Amino acid sequence: MFILNGIFITFEGPEGSGKTSVIKGVTEQLLKENYEILTTREPGGIRISEKIRDIILDVEHKEMTARTEALLYAASRSQHYEEKIKPALEAGKIILCDRFIDSSLAYQGYAREIGVEEVFEINRFGIGNNLPVLTIFIDVPPQVGLNRVFSNTRKVDRLDLESLAFHEKVYEGYMQLKDRFPKRIKFIDGQNPLEKVIEDTLKVIKEIL
Ligand code: TMP
Repeated sequence: MFILNGIFITFEGPEGSGKTSVIKGVTEQLLKENYEILTTREPGGIRISEKIRDIILDVEHKEMTARTEALLYAASRSQHYEEKIKPALEAGKIILCDRFIDSSLAYQGYAREIGVEEVFEINRFGIGNNLPVLTIFIDVPPQVGLNRVFSNTRKVDRLDLESLAFHEKVYEGYMQLKDRFPKRIKFIDGQNPLEKVIEDTLKVIKEIL
């Protein structure tokens, strides 16, 4: 039996919430303070899961069913957890992961209407009960986030192309998760300037370090 000494932190948010920039800023600061950090992302983070990512997010794959999508995210997560996150936890690192199980619960479980419990179940099969200790939700209204996505240079993917109504439902899904996991999921106002969002996020992270 391995002891997991590290700290597993995930970042969530609507499309265009700025998570990736926040993670970058937080990582730079924590590295300066000599913390051992591993940053990674979902879907992806390792070879097999990046390939699954390409299949899921390909704009050509319009025929993909909601259940296939949910299973692919769970498969990519299972491999990612075993191959990268768990060993880093065993090595005592702080893991900052861009999206994790809450994305599946909000997007597939709630917005795609598969059911949050059902999606939880397939993820339990993939990763057991290994939830993060802290989840930072970068809070921006879905419309604001989508406007950012379509006005910047990031490649638009299959899920970005869903309707505003879908993204509003994802947001509602996250609101329910916040009520379900009030200790774990912390909301940060993502409409502030980036520097302030990074500062607010660091404050919450420092409370558990
Ligand atoms: P990203 O744009 O943050 O890299 O995430 C890729 C897309 O995949 C984004 O639209 C959210 C979506 N997603 C899910 O629907 N379920 C999941 O479990 C994960 C990890 C991401």
